[in-house]
Amino acid sequence: MKDSNFLKEHNARSLWHPMAHPADSLANPPTIVTGGAGVRITDVDGHEVVDGVGGLWNVNLGYSCQPIKDAIAAQLEQLPYYSIFRGTSNDAVIQLAEELRDFFEPDGLTRAFYTSGGSDSVETALRLARQYHKIRGEAGRVKFLSLKKGYHGTHFGGASVNGNANFRSAYEPLLAGCHHIPAPYTYRNPFNETDPERLAQLCLAALEDEIAFQGAGTIAAFIMEPILGAGGVIPPHESFMPGVREICSRHGILLIADEVITAFGRTGSWTGSRHWGVQPDLMCTAKAITNGYFPFGAVMIAEAVAGVFEGDETGKAAIGHGYTYSGHPVGAAAALACLGETLRQNVPVNAAARGAQLYDGLLALQTRHEMIGDVRGGHGLMLALELVGDRDSKAPIDKAVAGRVQEEAYRSGAMVRVSGPNIILSPPLVLSEADAQVILDALEAGLTAAG
Ligand SMILES: Cc1ncc(COP(=O)(O)O)c(C=O)c1O
Repeated sequence: MKDSNFLKEHNARSLWHPMAHPADSLANPPTIVTGGAGVRITDVDGHEVVDGVGGLWNVNLGYSCQPIKDAIAAQLEQLPYYSIFRGTSNDAVIQLAEELRDFFEPDGLTRAFYTSGGSDSVETALRLARQYHKIRGEAGRVKFLSLKKGYHGTHFGGASVNGNANFRSAYEPLLAGCHHIPAPYTYRNPFNETDPERLAQLCLAALEDEIAFQGAGTIAAFIMEPILGAGGVIPPHESFMPGVREICSRHGILLIADEVITAFGRTGSWTGSRHWGVQPDLMCTAKAITNGYFPFGAVMIAEAVAGVFEGDETGKAAIGHGYTYSGHPVGAAAALACLGETLRQNVPVNAAARGAQLYDGLLALQTRHEMIGDVRGGHGLMLALELVGDRDSKAPIDKAVAGRVQEEAYRSGAMVRVSGPNIILSPPLVLSEADAQVILDALEAGLTAAG
């Protein structure tokens, strides 16, 4: 690898970074991460910090998970690639599907469709949802409903159900027939309602209203994250997702749980749907399925939905969808090893404990730092601070101030992520108590410096 001078001179020069303005990446060169071990990352200058971001919500088991590394290396030796398009398969995908079936059995999900990441999983679920209705003779069910503030990746389908203008406006026109419901976001909502339970009921009423307006017979699916992640970590009241499930079932609308972040333990439960006691019809997974070590994902399919496809005798259930890397054997081997380690380490237990510690710590920070408008968390290791310029008016924070919090926190020992007005925490689920405290101390330093 080239030396640090070369890397710094060429940083962002010949590549564009996702989710960044190319000119901004040149003006504010990104941190060059060159190493990772345990829950820590090291940059090109040798500065080591606790990774409060967990890669990108995906490195749940940290950077030193040897069984996954070994499985990837062994699979590269044995069979580095073969397609599973019609007519061929491989040993790793077959075994993985059985293990995923066992893992997701409590969610009622019994079939897997492999993808190469979260956006692919969302696209796959949206497409299968439309096809499901066509097979059943309801070809008019083509629309999708979703939540404002929701994040569902960046393919055209995912961007169309996405509930944040930042990911939509530059790429419009998007898919027709996608409609959005207010999110159960107590800090800011069109109802001015701060009580989570009452807000959940209002959002559910808005969903009913939209279904009546569109006509249930035109709607294929409702897609939601059990806890909204990238939109700023918004945990709904416990009545919300069960309410959505009931409404969808009553109207023949499929419920897609986008669990690209929440599957595999992050919420303190094995899945976000299980966290709320809901069984979805389709579930999107990716990210932590391989601990982020290999781009891979799976859409999990409920038994009843699978039955419609498998029982079709008209040919309509032939799946005209899939990726060159659907069922990549190296990804499947990584996922097998990752699932084994995830179960062996029983990660939801630590995610819940460390999540509670961080949530309490963030609430304590709020008492000392005026710029913290809202603290969100309380469900495992997904937490956010919403920063404001003024607490009373909730005026948005100056972007530069949020940036200063992040920079100083980094200098003080923790990588945290700034997304709009939010500081988002999504550390590895194997975080220790001491390392959680490092994150809190670093944030305290950041907030003090920027305040
Ligand atoms: C809920 C959710 N869905 C989909 C995606 C898109 O996944 P990917 O970036 O792997 O395409 C993400 C990414 O953060 C996500 O959080």
